[in-house]
Amino acid sequence: MDIWEEWLLEGRHHGSSAQERQTGLQFIETARQAVEAELRLQPGQTVLEVGCGAGDWLPRLLAATPGGGVVALDGSAGLVERARQSLETRVPAADAARVRWLCQDLRAPLPSDLRVHAACGRSVLQYMGTDLPAVLRTLHGALLPGGRIGFFEATPLDDPAPVPRAMPERLRRKLEANWWALPWRMGVADYWRALRDSPFRQVRMQHSQQISLLDATPELIAGVQATRPVAGEPPLGETLLRGLSPAEAEEARECFSRAEAIGVAVSWCLLAAEA
Ligand SMILES: C[S@@+](CC[C@H](N)C(=O)[O-])C[C@H]1O[C@@H](n2cnc3c(N)ncnc32)[C@H](O)[C@@H]1O
Repeated sequence: MDIWEEWLLEGRHHGSSAQERQTGLQFIETARQAVEAELRLQPGQTVLEVGCGAGDWLPRLLAATPGGGVVALDGSAGLVERARQSLETRVPAADAARVRWLCQDLRAPLPSDLRVHAACGRSVLQYMGTDLPAVLRTLHGALLPGGRIGFFEATPLDDPAPVPRAMPERLRRKLEANWWALPWRMGVADYWRALRDSPFRQVRMQHSQQISLLDATPELIAGVQATRPVAGEPPLGETLLRGLSPAEAEEARECFSRAEAIGVAVSWCLLAAEA
């Protein structure tokens, strides 16, 4: 099991309550709907989902493109296999047959015959770092003229500091081994620069801030909710605290609840553009 399988199949909801899990899934759905609104998929079209993970988005993408197709790409062989198997149980065989699977690194060239009307993803460009401009060029090359992209990506709120400064180094290292180890260090400006300098036109970016502090005060959350267009909270829950002793977990919670720890909060970018 690679790090992505572990995160998507086990880590994401580890230690979360049923309610947190439900809220998190709703949040992801909301994100996908926001992207779909940008893609404006039509029957007969083909859409590429990059970083498809466990394949949760695929039934909706298939439903939006009757008579067309979906290309599902992920770098994790285990997740691609998992997505393929799970899709077979969720959609009719004729729909499952409309999916083309690509197991490859998004930073590598795409198959030369690939031509799609749209490309999308959620929480995947955020891992591209300095490769983002090249990845955008690759996606642009796969799009038909007028094709659209839509992505929903996370960025540390306190760009570019992704972890709470107030946290003792020893705890911070343990937490990084859980979630923050994943190198999502893309700031809002990084996304913007990469899109602006890409071959895409009609670039649009929506940025919303979202507090995910474990024990944030209701006032703090209410203040942030007032500024953000996307409903729901991702349930980081106790995922972050995995591997910590009860005393360390308590200490971490205390750090997260301090005002100066706001750097751990997440903000989200909706990125859209046309080829
Ligand atoms: C945080 S998960 C998001 C999964 C899915 N999009 C979702 O919303 O549930 C990131 C996904 O991107 C994939 N990924 C990360 N880096 C990648 C790369 N360089 N090439 C291809 N896939 C990558 C991982 O395997 C994983 O499935």
